[in-house]
Amino acid sequence: MIICIDGPAGAGKSSAARALARRLGFRFLDTGAMYRAVAHAALRRGLDWDEPAALARLARELSIEVGESQVLVDGEDVTREIRTLAVTTVTHYAANNSAVRQHLVELQRREAAGGNVVTEGRDQGTVVFPHAECKIFLTASPAERAHRRLIDLQRRGESTSYDQVLAEQTQRDQRDANRDVGPLRPAADAIELITDGLQPEEVVDRLEALVRARMA
Ligand code: DC
Repeated sequence: MIICIDGPAGAGKSSAARALARRLGFRFLDTGAMYRAVAHAALRRGLDWDEPAALARLARELSIEVGESQVLVDGEDVTREIRTLAVTTVTHYAANNSAVRQHLVELQRREAAGGNVVTEGRDQGTVVFPHAECKIFLTASPAERAHRRLIDLQRRGESTSYDQVLAEQTQRDQRDANRDVGPLRPAADAIELITDGLQPEEVVDRLEALVRARMA
């Protein structure tokens, strides 16, 4: 069984999807981590962002392992680095690159083959797993999402402000929604869940109820 959880940045997808997978005994696949991993590797190598072919080549050469709680690139643990603001800011180069997407979509399908998976991203229900048994579009208002992200960044020691987070989020939303390949939009058969005012635990409860109703 494949459960797709798509939605914009800051909707709480990662933690909710991870907790849901744990409750169900399913594998959890964080596909945003893959795009981040490619961007991180490119940043490290000083790749020219104006050379999309070089970025695609790099993506294909890397060994990217996205585990339950660890992201390894060529065997090195980059779990923390890929979540920094510096990497977040350049990840759109990887996400907007159609050859990078094609490669990562293949990787995602391979990872999910034959298993029970909760997968999380932007295009999981629309492009990667169009025949998934359960699709959820998880979202929240821009203000709520920016507020949550600010707390998250501060907790990780990043110095930023609400206005900065909101401005970057608006830009990311626009990029996510308007990219030519794999844009963010709900699948026609997705169930929308708006998480404003819900505690993280309540979000997982609702997700679990939706999935169990589908499984019944
Ligand atoms: O969910 P996240 O913030 O970790 O995602 C990082 C970036 O990757 C974000 O800009 C959107 C992009 N992304 C994507 O294009 N497709 C996915 N399936 C997952 C993430």
